[in-house]
Amino acid sequence: MENKIKKIGILTGGGDCPGLNAVIRAATRTAILKYGLEVVGFKNGYRGLYLGQTVKLDLDAVSGILPRGGTILYSSNKDNLFQYPFEENGEIVYRDVSDVGIKNIQDAGIDAMIIIGGDGTLTSGRDFARKGVKVVGVPKTIDNDLAATDATFGFDTAVSVATEALDRLHTTAESHHRIMVLEVMGRYAGWIALEAGIAGGADAILIPEIPYDIEKVAEKIRERRYAGKDFSIVVVAEGAKSKTGEMVVSKVIEDSPDPIRLGGIGNKVAQELEKLVGLEARATILGHLQRGGTPSAYDRILSTRYGVEAVELLMQGKYGTMVTLKGLNMSYESLENVIGQNKSVDPDGELVRAAKSIGICFGD
Ligand code: F6P
Repeated sequence: MENKIKKIGILTGGGDCPGLNAVIRAATRTAILKYGLEVVGFKNGYRGLYLGQTVKLDLDAVSGILPRGGTILYSSNKDNLFQYPFEENGEIVYRDVSDVGIKNIQDAGIDAMIIIGGDGTLTSGRDFARKGVKVVGVPKTIDNDLAATDATFGFDTAVSVATEALDRLHTTAESHHRIMVLEVMGRYAGWIALEAGIAGGADAILIPEIPYDIEKVAEKIRERRYAGKDFSIVVVAEGAKSKTGEMVVSKVIEDSPDPIRLGGIGNKVAQELEKLVGLEARATILGHLQRGGTPSAYDRILSTRYGVEAVELLMQGKYGTMVTLKGLNMSYESLENVIGQNKSVDPDGELVRAAKSIGICFGD
């Protein structure tokens, strides 16, 4: 079949992530330099697709953005065109305005779209593909919790930021004989906590996949005290929960397709440990520092590979797919098979076993 792609569109949706700009740059450069295509970006994710907010992406537009965090196209994690919110008589009603998005793609002369985002953004990507739009998705999340791909860009940077935070907490914890609790992101998966905890020499790591008993964590810290270590470092994933408790929700964003925002477990764990152990405890919530700023070298390379491969898939006519990393190679999966497929930490897996072998407590 003749490939008629002359112009591609790119949009970024969902929470931002270090490496998004590197993907935009790589896709744009590949499209222009290798295939002589035109490239257009939609601003502000699907909202920009609805409003027809386009920006020309040429070599100048993507110059200098490789090390830049965020996304030059901006993002939105609220705007689903298949259920777009409108205010009517003081009430929010939802309508399917996906045809407006499709018309804007056609009006801009765009033949195919690269949609970069997480589960929500790619669900819409799949739905646009079902309606005949030529789509290739690029997965994005610092949480690294997508089953279809071995690694997502942004994760390595988030782990590095959390590891540096742990190094810094170590010195102040030691000076003041304190328990320092670091709460990290990751939503319902414990990957950031697990990897940063190992890299940062944590004494305990609490993750959603292994519900904890706080007494077991306290006992670990007491043992360290008897051995002459009057300070301890605990990493807590925002989605961690005790054996008898629930995840701590920091806020509910009603108009978001994924309304739950986790957060607050770090303070709870710090307060409980202070009482149980009798050492002062402090909690640090690392928050969006894990998502902002420049991507690591690894993430720049991975993002570049994702961006290049997205264009290659479009040029090969492999529409309705998502780029993946499988082992050492870039590959792809149908968007139909990847949505809602999450990758959790295996409580009996090699990484957790390695951590346990070196004495890290998981509270189980
Ligand atoms: O999925 C990425 C992520 O950073 C999660 O780790 C975190 O729970 C969530 O997004 C935070 O979302 P928001 O930026 O809306 O606060």
